[in-house]
Amino acid sequence: MTEQEILSATDVSKTFQVKAGDVTAVDSVSFTAGRGQVTTIVGPSGSGKTTLLYIVGSLEKPETGAIEVAGSNILDPATDLVRYRRKHVGFVFQFFNLIPTLTALENVMLPMDLAGVSPEEQNRRASELLDGMGVSGRLLKARPNKMSGGENQRVAIARALANDPDIILADEPTGNLDTATGRTVIDILSRLAHESDKCVLMVTHDESVLDVSDRAFRMVDGHLNEIRA
Ligand SMILES: Nc1ncnc2c1ncn2[C@@H]1O[C@H](COP(=O)(O)OP(=O)(O)OP(=O)(O)O)[C@@H](O)[C@H]1O
Ligand SMILES: [Mg+2]
Repeated sequence: MTEQEILSATDVSKTFQVKAGDVTAVDSVSFTAGRGQVTTIVGPSGSGKTTLLYIVGSLEKPETGAIEVAGSNILDPATDLVRYRRKHVGFVFQFFNLIPTLTALENVMLPMDLAGVSPEEQNRRASELLDGMGVSGRLLKARPNKMSGGENQRVAIARALANDPDIILADEPTGNLDTATGRTVIDILSRLAHESDKCVLMVTHDESVLDVSDRAFRMVDGHLNEIRA
């Protein structure tokens, strides 16, 4: 793994036991992803993209393999996964997953609150992050159901950045947005990689995202192959 490649997966497999039999969602997958880059995984429904992303984010546990982030294997039983997620990863989801009873500002403050940041600093940093996403004024006090899909997603990206993680994991971030709004969200993610040196790992059906990706992989039936260097 080069210094730039903050994330490396080696021989990762995950099988779900379902009534109809075993489903190997992720089958001996290996890849690396770097800081300052958008790495995209495309593939059809059911190919294992979300499962792989959740494994990287430690929301799912594979049976075999290693996931090295900044030099440590997160699958090592000694790893403090709460600390890992807080320090290294921010999640962006298709359906935004904002907390409906909290305002935009409060949604972004929450991960900092959980990390023990002072209320003043939470407020300052959340406002700054939201401003960077073009969310300001009345929107700061708006709840998710009073904001558009694009606004929800921009708040969700600000939330993902709250504790300044080095990796942003995005699962179909444009899946619930119209084409133009989706493009804005992709531009934001691309800016985070190229200007803020984040490692952006995105999984999607949307092959148009390949144009703005630095590296790309295709997932089919749990197998992953690089599309171009
Ligand atoms: N919790 C689970 N229990 C059982 N099977 C699961 C579970 N999660 C995923 N699977 C199965 O694993 C396979 C991969 O699912 P996954 O959600 O990772 O695919 P995906 O590529 O993200 O699909 P989509 O594009 O529709 O989001 C599918 O066959 C799915 O049915
Ligand atoms: Mg999925």
